[in-house]
Amino acid sequence: MTTILSIRDLGKSYAGGFNALKSVTLDVQKGEILALLGPNGAGKTTLISAICGIITPTSGHVTVGGHDIATEFRAARAMIGLVPQEISLEPFETVTNTVRFSRGIFGRPRNDALIEDILRKLSLWDKKDSRMMQLSGGMKRRVLIAKALAHEPRVLFLDEPTAGVDVELRKDMWNIVADLKADGVSIILTTHYIEEAEAIADRIGIINHGELLLVEDKATLMARMGKKRLEVQLGDPITAIPASLARHNLALSTDGMALTYTYDTNAERTGITGLLNDVAAAGLVLSDVQTHQSSLEEIFVGLVSGDTT
Ligand SMILES: Nc1ncnc2c1ncn2[C@@H]1O[C@H](COP(=O)(O)OP(=O)(O)O)[C@@H](O)[C@H]1O
Ligand SMILES: [Mg+2]
Repeated sequence: MTTILSIRDLGKSYAGGFNALKSVTLDVQKGEILALLGPNGAGKTTLISAICGIITPTSGHVTVGGHDIATEFRAARAMIGLVPQEISLEPFETVTNTVRFSRGIFGRPRNDALIEDILRKLSLWDKKDSRMMQLSGGMKRRVLIAKALAHEPRVLFLDEPTAGVDVELRKDMWNIVADLKADGVSIILTTHYIEEAEAIADRIGIINHGELLLVEDKATLMARMGKKRLEVQLGDPITAIPASLARHNLALSTDGMALTYTYDTNAERTGITGLLNDVAAAGLVLSDVQTHQSSLEEIFVGLVSGDTT
């Protein structure tokens, strides 16, 4: 494993003293996809902005490819591609020029074949001579991605890339992310679409109130925090859970047709055998039994619950 991005005790207090980022420490490996999950206002954009030099951190250090963002900003920044949350583009500029210019900013030599390849992958090629102001919101978002890729970054930040984008773009985006990963590019995306993180990330970080609550391998996280549910479908409805089943902590569905039992996947004993015996002994008729593994969403909600922001 090679660490490409190293974040140490990174903090940011905004003017007025609001502490938006609290001592975040994190390493990102070459070719990994890290999803940063957190509710609105958690500090995701602040974290990315501090790494990319858009805001100045109040404390801590960051290196990208070994280059310190404070002392070797240009070298560090040249390795980073950023797809920002907010769209900001020059209205009169054409697609090709916008993307080409972005490459030039980082001192990379002109490479029209590369720009063409990027524009084609993002279905922007037939729009290459259009001006920004002529493009739809979705197309502008595609241009932002093309811009971020134009200088061949080794670390790509996608800040809420799929908030409000169409299915087509989402698909294109995940294809590009897969290609980049195969080339060893690291991708850090922020999202509150948990299914997305669940589908594409290698690791998941959960951030809330400026604190990185945890960073863990997706599979480990799901196994460690996962709960399973067993749903027992009944042949005939019941109005209340029989007293003999009280010790199992069951929930009864509103239609009285199903009992739900929640258990820890890592527990030595799940208690399922005892439960099913007791259900039979209570004279209930089973029509079906299903299990359900808790999703990342439930884990996430569990971690940030009690939160009103
Ligand atoms: N320029 C700023 N000045 C003061 N507070 C800010 C500024 N930018 C963001 N914040 C605050 O910092 C917190 C984190 O914001 P942000 O990083 O944008 O969260 P996220 O991207 O996770 O939604 C929020 O409470 C937000 O209001
Ligand atoms: Mg944000």
